[in-house]
Amino acid sequence: MSEPRDPEKIAVVRPDRSSEPRPSRLQAVKGMNDILPNECAHWDQLELILKDWLRCYGYRGIRTPVLEPTPLFRRGIGEVTDIVEKEMFSFTDRLNGDELTLRPEFTAGIARSVIEHNLTYAAPQRVFSMGPVFRHERPQRGRYRQFHQLDVEALGFSGPDVDAELIVMLSRLWADLGLQNIRLELNCLGSAQERKAHRQSLIDYFSENEALLDEDARRRLHTNPLRILDTKNPAMQALVDAAPRLESHLGEESKAHFEGVQRLLKDCGVVFTVNPRLVRGLDYYNLTVFEWITDQLGSQGTICGGGRYDGLVEVLGGKPTPAVGFAIGLERLLELWSETRLDDLPAEVDCYMVYQSENARRRSFSLAEQLRDAGLNVLLHGGGGSMKSQMKRADQSGASVAVILGDDELQAGTATVKVLRGESSQMQFQQDGLSDALYDLLFSDDEGTE
Ligand code: HAM
Repeated sequence: MSEPRDPEKIAVVRPDRSSEPRPSRLQAVKGMNDILPNECAHWDQLELILKDWLRCYGYRGIRTPVLEPTPLFRRGIGEVTDIVEKEMFSFTDRLNGDELTLRPEFTAGIARSVIEHNLTYAAPQRVFSMGPVFRHERPQRGRYRQFHQLDVEALGFSGPDVDAELIVMLSRLWADLGLQNIRLELNCLGSAQERKAHRQSLIDYFSENEALLDEDARRRLHTNPLRILDTKNPAMQALVDAAPRLESHLGEESKAHFEGVQRLLKDCGVVFTVNPRLVRGLDYYNLTVFEWITDQLGSQGTICGGGRYDGLVEVLGGKPTPAVGFAIGLERLLELWSETRLDDLPAEVDCYMVYQSENARRRSFSLAEQLRDAGLNVLLHGGGGSMKSQMKRADQSGASVAVILGDDELQAGTATVKVLRGESSQMQFQQDGLSDALYDLLFSDDEGTE
């Protein structure tokens, strides 16, 4: 009988469609990125590190929908914020007319969920969530329209100790990841009443100087004068620098809270600067706000931002619930981490199985299942091809060993195992008991050093 034909060498006859119009190629939505398999391995690795670290502080997962009712964000984040005014992916559900929005952040959705399920009824909650968020911003390095956040929230805690714990926790994460030169900026936004008094003094001040305001600032004068302080317009810098400060409106309680946070940070050796201009871009904050910033990522250097939002749950219809949290931008964190992390990821696959003939392919299929039963990760070659091309795939797969079934092995009930990483070697094992032999070969060193 003749040798089975090598499918890779079979000339495929395709119908001539050269005169037909080609369907246009579709691309990802602007500002939304594919995360390809090589990169995914780093995402997986980072997510494992993050979950370990969160467990160390008692945080538990929560997963809320990507799509929420639009009024949630309008009420939660605030009507006069960049996010709500111009960055939300919002649409009307054409089947029932509902106003929906792809979440631009996690906090409002988590607060909704906490209210809906009465989660803080019995005890305060420390929760985290990871996933995509959507903002229609101008894409550039570190700024995307779909990006990923790790969001961490502590609900039902009022003291400054939880604010400080979140910050100390972050400083531990940077150290665990080997990241340096991330600076911490802190500010205190006071209480709603204090901000109201400050707001009025800002309106008075900016009204007196209305001629110097740009269009954005003039629009915000009576709606959100605090955001004028955040201006990037150099022409308004002197005016903003001389504006009344919130600090002078802070009462004893707010000051004590802020001092409490700072004292705990100093106790733990966390270095920070107080930045009275730090107001953050979402309206729900009060008291402590903070950002972690690096100069290593160009203009999008804020890798984490957060703060206290004691009024949000009530604004969304729940019982008054003090809360504090932060979110890390995972694309930015990964980019920063790429400079220090080891690129040598552990092999994801233990064995790559190659076969010589149709019969060997059939046996490989069931043998691969037996190896998986024993807990090994097995990649079975797909699509045929010569032994040479299959071995090339085995090398590229990153597997630790290739398990080879040729006709000889099939007859003898054996398998050839070729070590692909480190010093190359080749050996034969019985198919019965192959999983034990592979365990010895792949993991015996690890066990020996335990
Ligand atoms: P945020 O400051 O708007 O806060 O976002 C948190 C982090 O997400 C930023 O520091 C940045 O690293 C990342 N980020 C923001 N926009 C983009 C973008 N377009 N592309 C890539 N990364 C981006 C919040 O979202 C609040 N919910 C944080 C919070 C939780 N506050 C209390 N609890």
